[in-house]
Amino acid sequence: MFSRTLTEDEINKITNMVEFIKDKHQGSEGHDYSHVLEVCRYSIKISQEIKEEVDPFIVITGALLHDIGRVHQEYGGLHGLMGGAIAEEYLEGINLDNDTIETITRIIVRHSPTSMLPPISTAEKIVFDADALDRLGWMGMIRGVMGKRGSIEEILERTLRKRSEDYHKLNFDVSKEIGKELYDQSVMLIKGLRKALDERTLEIENLKLPR
Ligand SMILES: [Fe+2]
Ligand SMILES: [Fe+2]
Repeated sequence: MFSRTLTEDEINKITNMVEFIKDKHQGSEGHDYSHVLEVCRYSIKISQEIKEEVDPFIVITGALLHDIGRVHQEYGGLHGLMGGAIAEEYLEGINLDNDTIETITRIIVRHSPTSMLPPISTAEKIVFDADALDRLGWMGMIRGVMGKRGSIEEILERTLRKRSEDYHKLNFDVSKEIGKELYDQSVMLIKGLRKALDERTLEIENLKLPR
């Protein structure tokens, strides 16, 4: 649950931050502004459902800034770490105190399995789960296969394995509840695609050549 409501000043800061993020994410492909908003929506939902108390400003700003390191495509797997540095500079610019800045940047650094630093605090776990939830389901599957190299079979296998890892690493019961339905969608989609692949004609002999 949220420990309190947001102040007017915090709402103004969030509104300005949204403009900053929208601008930065322009041109991002899979991890665009709509992904950021979905992660924010899931983060709020999880926060409201769990019994642990979390600060709304910390969770919402962490969710909004979580993929800020994605705006430079070359950061790839390091985007959590690089995003932490970009966010720190931005948060210093809006005059937040050092403790708050550190708490928010830790969410960004620990949101991604590629940072190799697991989430520890409740707020870090919330944004981690919210990000994983937006990788599950139809949209997540599409983002997962976009621009990937390899045969269709390899890409499908790899994507499903990663989604399974995402589902099994979820921290909260409410995340697992939402994730189950989304993960089932992913499995169903992969099964359908596999069936279509299996049914393809692989031998010339199977074609009814007109003779
Ligand atoms: Fe990310
Ligand atoms: Fe993300």
